[in-house]
Amino acid sequence: MARERWGSKLGIIMAVAGSAIGLGNFLRFPVQAAQNGGGAFMIPYFTAFFLLGLPLMWIEWAVGRLGGSMGHSTAPGMFHTLWPKNRLVKYLGAVGLFGPVIVFVYYIYVESWLLGYSVFALLGKYNSCTTHEAMSGFLRGYQGLAKNEHFSSLGPAVGFFLITFGLNMLVLYLGIRRGIERVCKYLLPVLGLFAVILMVKVLSLGAPDPSRPEHSVLNGFGFLWNPNWASLKEAKVWLAAAGQIFFTLSVGFGVILTYASYLTKKDDVALSGLTSAAANETAEVILGASIVIPAAFAFFGPLATAQIAQEGAFNLAFVTMPLVLQKVAFGDLFGFLWFALLFFAGVTSSISLAQPAIAFLQDEFRWPRLRAVSVFGIVTFVMCQACIFLIGKGVIDELDFWGGTFAIVVFATVETILFGWAFGIDKAWAEMHHGAAINVPRFYRWVIKYVTPTFLLTILFFWFLQKPVVRLIDRAGEVGLARPLEVLRLWGTDLAVLLWMKDRPVEGLPYVWGIRGGLLAFFVGLIVLIWLAWRRKRQVEVVA
Ligand code: ALA
Repeated sequence: MARERWGSKLGIIMAVAGSAIGLGNFLRFPVQAAQNGGGAFMIPYFTAFFLLGLPLMWIEWAVGRLGGSMGHSTAPGMFHTLWPKNRLVKYLGAVGLFGPVIVFVYYIYVESWLLGYSVFALLGKYNSCTTHEAMSGFLRGYQGLAKNEHFSSLGPAVGFFLITFGLNMLVLYLGIRRGIERVCKYLLPVLGLFAVILMVKVLSLGAPDPSRPEHSVLNGFGFLWNPNWASLKEAKVWLAAAGQIFFTLSVGFGVILTYASYLTKKDDVALSGLTSAAANETAEVILGASIVIPAAFAFFGPLATAQIAQEGAFNLAFVTMPLVLQKVAFGDLFGFLWFALLFFAGVTSSISLAQPAIAFLQDEFRWPRLRAVSVFGIVTFVMCQACIFLIGKGVIDELDFWGGTFAIVVFATVETILFGWAFGIDKAWAEMHHGAAINVPRFYRWVIKYVTPTFLLTILFFWFLQKPVVRLIDRAGEVGLARPLEVLRLWGTDLAVLLWMKDRPVEGLPYVWGIRGGLLAFFVGLIVLIWLAWRRKRQVEVVA
């Protein structure tokens, strides 16, 4: 079977930029910036961009192209290529299949709400909701969390989900060039146009209420960008910045590895990686920051906007923006543009999240595309039901943490160490520059080998060990070092509280454990699939 290829250089850059530009740019970024120090957030954010995001972009483009030249589109085969002597390293690649599938499962459901809301905007269906409470009620009704005059069942949500899911599967079935590349080539310019129109509209709002001139778009930018320098002392701000960089660039998922595997050996990766990262940053820092927060500020003022930013990205998208856009001329049309923009941004990201698992089945089991897409579709469709029917039980948050935050950082750490150390920085550097249209500054040799892995390990340390270490120091302070056994006993109790989540409400716990059990079972299933794939390869080799 001949390997699929991209139709053009622009095609893959658009596809990677399409994967990167998503809900993260227009919703997650402004919320993170507003919550984590405003303008000061840009310091950890750009530090993370230059020391984590950009190096990982280059690593993933280079490793992806290398893996593709050996017939592998996904992490298990690529990790094996980077360190062929190690028989176990391919199993670490399971993380690069796990993360994107888990994010896909909830991302596509949220994407389907956007399709639903684009239609509702055109039909004026939520126009009777003129307050925050009423618009929240509309959203809760749609999600099946409440029955009200707008929705009596989950029917519409399920309907839009089926359409969205079907569209994604169709694009994936059409393949790399006819499906993914074509969709990204058309949708990316359209979503860019919609974003610019919305930005210009927001900029032209000025101060919409003459009796409150201080509630202006300009002050909205001040609200978002005025730096709170004290925030830089908090570890959580640095973690949030790193998390945003991963999420927005789609690095650490394993999806760019797969996209780059359809390059040929002579294609450039250095300039292409930089271009796609730069396109994403422009969409994020310029367009993403200039729509929701300034608009919310102009209509609702500083206190309400701070409250809205605390409530998170979903409320901003589905509650605040429809309320804002109702107040402007041609509000239905602008509402449509807003939701369609997010829907298109979502589609170009969700197809990229699906492709690694599909490519794994195609490459490692030699399945035809139809079979790979069908099996992927059936498995994820079943998993999506948890998001649809258990949405009030914290399912999306659990999936987002394990698939969209934890797996990403672990995966990024593993791939960076394998590339810079197991494969070796000399070969790695040569690989990045093979066919390159630019020279990456030499300083990045050092960054990739030492700085990026140290940064990643520090993040992992803070996640796992910050709380236990702080508790141990506290207990030692309380009890005194003369009674080490007592310190250890109390610390054990603290660890049990952390581990078994005894500090959380009891009602939600069975669901949390259920989901974690399901995720673990899925991960083990991936390990078994990798084992089966390599066993099959050995059998084929013996026969040959
Ligand atoms: N990179 C994608 C986004 O920003 C996942 O939404």
